[in-house]
Amino acid sequence: MYILNTMEISLNGKTAVVTGGAHGIGRAMAECLHACGASVYIFDIDQTPLEFPAQLVSCDVTSRDSLSAAFDISGVPDVLLINAGTGIVKSLDETTRDVWDKTISLNLTAAFETLQIGAARMKAAGRGGSIVLTASTNSYDGEENLIAYNATKAGVLGILHTAANELGPFGIRVNAVNPGLIRTRLTQSAFDSPEVIREYFRAIPMGRGGEPSEVAKAAVFLASDWAGYITGATLLVDGGQMCCKFGPWKDGEAEFVDGAWRRVT
Ligand SMILES: NC(=O)c1ccc[n+]([C@@H]2O[C@H](COP(=O)([O-])OP(=O)(O)OC[C@H]3O[C@@H](n4cnc5c(N)ncnc54)[C@H](O)[C@@H]3O)[C@@H](O)[C@H]2O)c1
Repeated sequence: MYILNTMEISLNGKTAVVTGGAHGIGRAMAECLHACGASVYIFDIDQTPLEFPAQLVSCDVTSRDSLSAAFDISGVPDVLLINAGTGIVKSLDETTRDVWDKTISLNLTAAFETLQIGAARMKAAGRGGSIVLTASTNSYDGEENLIAYNATKAGVLGILHTAANELGPFGIRVNAVNPGLIRTRLTQSAFDSPEVIREYFRAIPMGRGGEPSEVAKAAVFLASDWAGYITGATLLVDGGQMCCKFGPWKDGEAEFVDGAWRRVT
């Protein structure tokens, strides 16, 4: 088939689950899935009401029982976005066993169990589907004061590759988005500090941070039929941060205005 029937991404008739969809990137993912026609279920510990029609399911993804009960409510997903996560900023010396365990539990173990439970149900239903993990640019780099976080996001790539391998024969694709610095409550303090973002964004070819909707669109693309022959892939959503060593923005040639670098003309 060489002719597209439509130029829109359509998820009409599909059931989509997003973990950690009450805020930030996950919330934007849920909105985007809804805009593409999916019936959306959000698994989250936070039950703050939404302004768009998605079903909020009370779920602590670090509990296997809670996850199973949530999937009982959503039914079998066609699209599963495994996104819940957190980052605790601590130096190597300050990273206690408790910080390490909490980060591994939410970012890595819960991602594994969400995928394991969701994929088992998708396989049993026999209608294929698509899974997208939220990894990070920190899957690759060693940003300081985030050793536990970085370990989990590198680990997510291990889950990605193995799951794509094992689930391909069932028609289930597995991919990941790798966001750079995205404006959410997790990162708002950095965005609120002009000195921090001025230097941070100097190394980003796009000259600015990202918005949750920009990650959501990439994830929904990967989840959709438009990515029908893509599995085991990672998609950086980082304004080009990972492609350069020092970045293109130099004083004299550029200025930092309203939170973004722009060329001086
Ligand atoms: N913001 C960034 O710059 C950035 C960059 C790269 C990757 N990420 C990743 O994106 C994902 C979302 O981060 P965000 O910035 O939107 O954070 P956020 O704090 O805005 O949202 C996280 C969501 O996860 C939910 N959550 C937390 N613990 C949970 C649990 N135990 N069970 C169920 N839900 C739970 C929260 O209630 C919240 O709705 C995370 O995996 C994070 O590591 C974020």
